[in-house]
Amino acid sequence: MQKGRILCVVPIALTLLIALGCGKQPSTAIHPVKLKMFAPLPEGYPAQAAALTEEKINLGRMLYYEPRLSKSQKISCNSCHGLSTYGVDGEPTSNGHKGQKGDRNSPTVYNSAGHFVQFWDGRAANVEEQAKGPVLNPVEMAMPNDRQVITVLKSIPEYVDAFKKAFPEDRDPVTYDNMAKAIGAFERKLVTPARWDKFLKGDQAALTEEEKIGFNTFTTVGCQACHAGALLGGNLYQKLGLVKPYPDASDPGRAKVTKKDADRMLFKVPALRNIEKTGPYFHNGKVAALDQAVAHMAEYQLGKPLSETEVRSIIAFLKSLTGDIPVDYIKEPALPKSTSKTPKPDLTD
Ligand code: HEC
Ligand code: HEC
Repeated sequence: MQKGRILCVVPIALTLLIALGCGKQPSTAIHPVKLKMFAPLPEGYPAQAAALTEEKINLGRMLYYEPRLSKSQKISCNSCHGLSTYGVDGEPTSNGHKGQKGDRNSPTVYNSAGHFVQFWDGRAANVEEQAKGPVLNPVEMAMPNDRQVITVLKSIPEYVDAFKKAFPEDRDPVTYDNMAKAIGAFERKLVTPARWDKFLKGDQAALTEEEKIGFNTFTTVGCQACHAGALLGGNLYQKLGLVKPYPDASDPGRAKVTKKDADRMLFKVPALRNIEKTGPYFHNGKVAALDQAVAHMAEYQLGKPLSETEVRSIIAFLKSLTGDIPVDYIKEPALPKSTSKTPKPDLTD
């Protein structure tokens, strides 16, 4: 590097350091290096193996809203992941078949295709694999087996036709795997760009002063150690109660999948996109308020309790992550009518 440039760079670096570290007032100046850990949302999360055709997405949308994929013919994916309510149902744990409660909170489906794995414990690799779970889960949609699902779908000519169009290369397109692939294709475009994305793309005015201060608080206390990237999470496992044991240790977390003691209380770090709208919080859904969730994180993950002002400041930033729901994309389609061959709803256990 030339001498002249060094002379020039040193004072700039010093000024930045002073601006970052020494000011007593909370700063609205955001250091560009801090932003490097974050990224704007993409327009979707393409599948590596298969193209997201319109036919596949349209079929996926129908299936997402389809209550006949449940034993009672009353519960669809949308019952627990309401698309007009940020992909959640607002319950600590959801009501499944005949009102049965599961033991974990329903996470949002928005942006979930961008997570490195699915579920709180990562037991499904991607949204296509995930979608095979709830339909056969006895406390969720409770279908007895995949054959029964196929019987329902094949009894409805409009579905048979839609599967043919979505999977033109398949000789027998109405399969359980293809059902999950279509739902996954639909989910891959459930994206919610927010003001935070505008800011990251260079629009300084997209965030308020309070939100910029909030971002600095978020990164100064260390939340970004786990909540970074485009989703501010969704890209690693971490122990809940990393620094101080978490009071509710009844759910083994990732250890439920791996059967390894070292994985006890390890959970996927959730994304913080739309977090203002997706309570109650944590895998057990036991924390109703966002300020309490943030305080828990500071106490159990970082070991440094925050002042009320700091919590409020972080929440101001978190609210800038609330994005736009894609209203046209999620519009509930008209579902085809049952025929005389369609099995009847079954309300037994
Ligand atoms: C009865 C409520 C219920 C129904 C119905 C339901 N889910 Fe879920 N969903 C949950 C719960 C609870 C979890 C978390 C379970 C876990 O992590 O062990 C979950 C997890 C997910 C996830 C993972 C999100 C993440 O952040 O890891 C996706 C994606 C998802 N569901 C999509 C669907 C789809 C698609 C359907 C329909 C085929 C569906 N769900 C039906 C309750 C439900
Ligand atoms: C060491 C990693 C780590 C750090 C640091 C961390 N978190 Fe978390 N965060 C997690 C994990 C893991 C979970 C999921 C816990 C669970 O529910 O089992 C979580 C959950 C959350 C939730 C609830 C999300 C939901 O959908 O229910 C919020 C809100 C949150 N974190 C915010 C923060 C904030 C704000 C900070 C900084 C004060 C922070 N986190 C620091 C790992 C971390």
